[in-house]
Order: sequence, then structure tokens, then C-alpha cells
Amino acid sequence: MMVKLGLVLAALLSGASASPHHARSTHVLHRRDAPPSGFVNSGAAPDDHVINLKLALVQSDVSGLEQKVYALSTPGNAEYGQHLSKEEVEELVVPSSESVSAVNDWLASHNLTSQVSSPAGDVRSVNLTVKQANALLDASYSTFTNQKTGSTTIRTLSYSIPADLRPHINVAYPTTQFPPTSVSSQSLLASSSRINDNIARALLDSCATSFTPACALELYSIPTNVPFQSDSRLGIAGFSDQSAGAADLKAFLEKYRPDVPDSTTFTSELVAGGVNNQSNPGVEGNLDTQWSVGLIGQTVPVVFVAVGDDDGDDFFSQLPAIINAFLNDTNPPQVLSMSYSLPDSFIDQATASSICNGFAQLAARGISVLAASGDYGVDGGEDPTQCHEFQVEFPASCPYVTAVGGTISQGPEVAWNSSGSGFSSYFPVPSYQAADVAAFLKTLPANYSTGHFNASNRAFPDLSARADFVEIVEGESQTGTGTSSSTPIVASIFALLNAELIAAGKSPLGFLNPFIYANKDAFTDIVAGANPGCNSEGFNATQGWDAISGVGTPIYTKLRTAAGL
Ligand SMILES: *[C@@H]1O[C@H](CO)[C@@H](O)[C@H](O)[C@H]1NC(C)=O
Ligand SMILES: *[C@@H]1O[C@H](CO)[C@@H](O)[C@H](O)[C@H]1NC(C)=O
Ligand SMILES: *[C@@H]1O[C@H](CO)[C@@H](O)[C@H](O)[C@H]1NC(C)=O
Ligand SMILES: *[C@@H]1O[C@H](CO)[C@@H](O)[C@H](O)[C@H]1NC(C)=O
Ligand SMILES: *[C@@H]1O[C@H](CO)[C@@H](O)[C@H](O)[C@H]1NC(C)=O
Ligand SMILES: *[C@@H]1O[C@H](CO)[C@@H](O)[C@H](O)[C@H]1NC(C)=O
Ligand SMILES: *[C@@H]1O[C@H](CO)[C@@H](O)[C@H](O)[C@H]1NC(C)=O
Ligand SMILES: *[C@@H]1O[C@H](CO)[C@@H](O)[C@H](O)[C@H]1NC(C)=O
Repeated sequence: MMVKLGLVLAALLSGASASPHHARSTHVLHRRDAPPSGFVNSGAAPDDHVINLKLALVQSDVSGLEQKVYALSTPGNAEYGQHLSKEEVEELVVPSSESVSAVNDWLASHNLTSQVSSPAGDVRSVNLTVKQANALLDASYSTFTNQKTGSTTIRTLSYSIPADLRPHINVAYPTTQFPPTSVSSQSLLASSSRINDNIARALLDSCATSFTPACALELYSIPTNVPFQSDSRLGIAGFSDQSAGAADLKAFLEKYRPDVPDSTTFTSELVAGGVNNQSNPGVEGNLDTQWSVGLIGQTVPVVFVAVGDDDGDDFFSQLPAIINAFLNDTNPPQVLSMSYSLPDSFIDQATASSICNGFAQLAARGISVLAASGDYGVDGGEDPTQCHEFQVEFPASCPYVTAVGGTISQGPEVAWNSSGSGFSSYFPVPSYQAADVAAFLKTLPANYSTGHFNASNRAFPDLSARADFVEIVEGESQTGTGTSSSTPIVASIFALLNAELIAAGKSPLGFLNPFIYANKDAFTDIVAGANPGCNSEGFNATQGWDAISGVGTPIYTKLRTAAGL
């Protein structure tokens, strides 16, 4: 009601007043009734607190970008493998000069200036005080306290732009997006909270209770004799102050890959003020680098990309930071492994779309992005007896990302009962999986989706790999459980395939999903296991694609043939 009244008043004023300063009606870009559960409003934010506000402008040709992505990534298409250059992608997403001047004029009327903050200029950033931001966005920035961690974050429950700018601006952040701060986030780290398998671990040193690189090489038929290929590179994302230890990697290689020189290591790239602190390696950083270098040995250079908080202290600011770093590179790694996720309920549709669009741009560049499907089953870490609506992890649920679920060993692999999975809240089902998802939906009890999930949307994971009793060296040897380990395993397999393709003069695989769904027989179908939660059975692993194990686990030798090698 308040908003409607405000709009009417603004319209009246614009008719009555000669002053251009009152002439604009506003459009609410996003509003939420309350912060997400777990946050309390601790009062108005200090007027002089400085916010680095990002404005995502409307891009020139989003549907052109999406069409290109599918043409380039779909086996059999005439354009398959013809990935775009940095400049070609930028041409599709650059905002119109009209949009740029409309936005800059608006900012100037508030005595503000903006700076380009993405390679194509479709994101602009403005430093402004809370007082200025409240005036600019008709917002009410407040300090919200995360009750679990005690950390505070400054956000607003609603924000608006002048209605005539609606055709030019998609989203502004930080506004109504409520991620827990990365440093204190438990759910962001897929593996660390579940690193206690040691206790349950049997003395028996077999692949069932001690999953080593040797086990993975055997299980997925991964070759160890692919020649060094400097042009195939694997990027490992490091968020949340996770550093990767070179000394721990050396110890890991000595123990588990004695055939690989223990001097084999990774390089670091620092993005947005990131650090790779050798005095303070983290479980996730170690796991990801040990399981990539541990599988690909010296064949493919591994780049650890440490993302800092110059662009914002939360995951949903740091994702665009790493995307932009890759987009701004004329020759980035062709595979990016990301063992991190948060529920998509922390962000609104416009924010999710804006970040997912960044992944579409990476797809157009020929980059395969692998993302962990999450470690909390369908309840996403909520009380499994209380929740009804299944939680959805992001970025795994973005259709331009390849989501990796987890399996455990019980003789043959079965789906892990905590594997994150389900249906996006925001993105419609993409064509590459539509038939498989429809077939899976038929296996569900009648009306099973009602209130649990949106059955017309993008479903994940796309594939899976081993997630339990995974060895890692963190000072000493231990094992971990989580899709955090499944993700670098799968990423390493595709980086090796790229090395072989590049050596054969062919294009790297790029965005993988159309290839994966077109070659389901190159995977071991996982047909047992389920992830019960939210007072439900969750999802069953079934014959064919299912919403817990995807198409199954990779078989390198068959993928090789599918890739035309
Ligand atoms: C912008 O700056 C001018 C000159 O300093 C001042 O008169 C005006 O009130 C400012 N406008 C806003 C919106 O702050
Ligand atoms: C892109 O890289 C160039 C240097 O190569 C740098 O000057 C520019 O600031 C970067 N742009 C973004 C948006 O990061
Ligand atoms: C905002 O401030 C940061 C330093 O805190 C600076 O690096 C950046 O260039 C500023 N951006 C703009 C748009 O002025
Ligand atoms: C690296 O970690 C050590 C140990 O936690 C800490 O004392 C040091 O300040 C850190 N350095 C940086 C640059 O973050
Ligand atoms: C998942 O499996 C473990 C044993 O592997 C069991 O302890 C746990 O209760 C199961 N969780 C659910 C939600 O069924
Ligand atoms: C399901 O998602 C689609 C977008 O793909 C949306 O249009 C529709 O409203 C959603 N349905 C429900 C019941 O939320
Ligand atoms: C899971 O499989 C069991 C056994 O076949 C079946 O009874 C149940 O309905 C299935 N549940 C779902 C959610 O698919
Ligand atoms: C399923 O839903 C439809 C309408 O949405 C309803 O007509 C039907 O009775 C429901 N079936 C069951 C078994 O609940």
C-alpha cells in the first residue's frame, strides 16, 4: 500500500511541479518482507558508512549470447567448439551508450560518478555513503546481525530506481541479497564441517574407507600417461579465505602419488585482494589442490585462484569477481572447479540471473565451470523435520554451470544421502536436459513436487563422483566427505580430456552440459541411494538421469571416444 501511495504522489508531483528534480516516478526493483531467518535488524546503518554499489546494466544482446552458447556447446552443431574471443563476448554484453548515459546522468544528479567494473562495462560501481545510497535508491540500509555467527552486514529490505531507468538497470548490489559473510559461513564450505570420518573409519585400508588418487584413477579409468600440455589449464577457485598449502600438497603427493615428482605444484592467481597464505592453509584449499594435482600430475598446470573481498565480503560479490577475472583474461584456464555453494534463497531472481549470465559468458568463451551440488541434501542445512520447500544450491543450479553431486562406496557407488540436488527456484529447464528430467519426473510419486520444488525448472546435479572417505593432508592425513571432493575429481578429468584434445589440434570441450547429456553412456549410471529430508524421501537415484546423481560417474575411456579422440 505504501508503495502505491508513493507512486501516485510522485506522479502527481511530476505533473504539478516545474522542477525536474521531482519529475521521476520510481520502480521497486526488489523488496523482501523480512531478512532471511537467522538475521535480525539491529537498527539503521551509520549514515557515513561507505558502500561500494554495483549496478548491473541491461546488456545489448542476452538472447544472442545464449543462442551462441548452445550453438558452440552442442555436439553436432556447425559451430560446435568455435568458442568466442574476449572481444566477441564483450560485444554481446556491452550495454548501449544510451543506457550508460542514462545511468550516469542519474548518478550525476546525486553528485555521484561511476566506474566500469566488468570487462564489457555492463557492471558499473559507485562508492557512496549509506546516506547517499538511501536517497539514490529510496532504500533504508540497516545493520543486520547474523544470529548464528554474530557477524553484521549492511543491507536494505527494499530498493528502487527511477521508473524510466528500468530498461537500463537489471540489479543493484549489495541491496536485498543476504549472504552470510564468507568468513564465518559454514554452509559455504562444502566439506569442512564433515571432516570427521576418521572416527568411523575402519582400519581396513581399501578404497571403500580410504579413497586415494590411486582409487579414483582406477574407478574412473583415468590415464596417467597423457603428455604435458601447457595450453590446457585447470583453475581452482578459493573463496572464504581458503588458502592452499604447497607443503601439504608435497606431503600428499609423496604419500599418494609417489610416481609424480613431489615438486609438482600449482601457481596462484590473486583476484580482488585475495591472498594465498602459506602459514594458514584451509581444508577446502588443500582438498581442491591435492585432488587436482594428485589426479593430473604434471599433465596440466593447475592455477589456484584466491578471491578476496575488495569487491564485497560475501560469496555473491566474490562470484562476479572471479567471473570477471576470467572474462578479462584473453587466455584463461579452460576448466574452473568451484567447491562452494549457498542456497539460492539468499538472493533474488535478478541477482541470480545476473551472476548466471556471467557463467553464460564463460561458456561462450569455452570455459567449463564445475560447481559442487552441496552437502546438505534437499534440506540444505535447515532442520530436516521442519522444512517443506527443498533448498536449492547456487551456483550449481545455474544452467550454464555443470553441477557435481556425490556418491559413496557400497561395492558399486551409490548416491550419497546428503548430496545437494533438486530444481532451481529461478531458471527454466534448459533444452539439453529437458527430456531426461521429464523421464525422471515420471518416476516420482503423484504430485510429489507440490510445495517441495518447481518441476518446470533447471534440475541438478548433472553428474557425480565419489564424496566419502576422501584422503587429504592437512598437516596430518585425514579423510573428508563432501561434494567438495567430487568437484575437483570431475574437473581434473575434463582438464585431462582438454589436454588430449588440444594436443590433437581440437577445441577444448567448453561448456559441458550439452555434451554430457548427449553422451550418457560415457558415465556409470548410479541407480541406488536417496537423500531424504524435509519430511520427505528426497530424490531416489534411478535408471537414467536423476536429481541426485545426474547421469552418473565419469568413465574416462568412454568420454575420450565421445570427445572424438
Ligand atoms: C550536489 O552538489 C551541489 C553543489 O555542491 C549541491 O548544491 C547539491 O545540493 C548537491 N546535490 C545532491 C543531490 O547532493
Ligand atoms: C582488465 O585488465 C586490464 C589490464 O589487462 C585492467 O586494466 C582492467 O582494469 C581490468 N578490468 C577489469 C574490469 O577487471
Ligand atoms: C571505490 O573505492 C575503492 C577503494 O576503497 C577504489 O579502489 C575504487 O576505485 C573506488 N571506486 C569508485 C567508483 O570510485
Ligand atoms: C597468514 O596466516 C598467519 C597465521 O594465521 C597470520 O598470522 C598472518 O597474518 C596471515 N597473513 C596474511 C597476509 O593474511
Ligand atoms: C545417511 O547415511 C548415514 C550413514 O552413511 C547415516 O548415518 C545417516 O543417518 C543418513 N542420513 C539420512 C538423512 O538418512
Ligand atoms: C516455476 O518457475 C518458473 C520459471 O521457470 C516460473 O515462471 C513459475 O512461476 C514457477 N512456478 C512456481 C509455482 O513458482
Ligand atoms: C523411491 O523409491 C522407492 C522404492 O522404489 C519408492 O517406494 C518411492 O516412492 C520412491 N520415492 C521417490 C521420491 O521417488
Ligand atoms: C494432484 O493434483 C491435481 C491438481 O493439481 C489434483 O487434481 C489431483 O487430485 C492430485 N492428485 C493427488 C494424488 O493428490
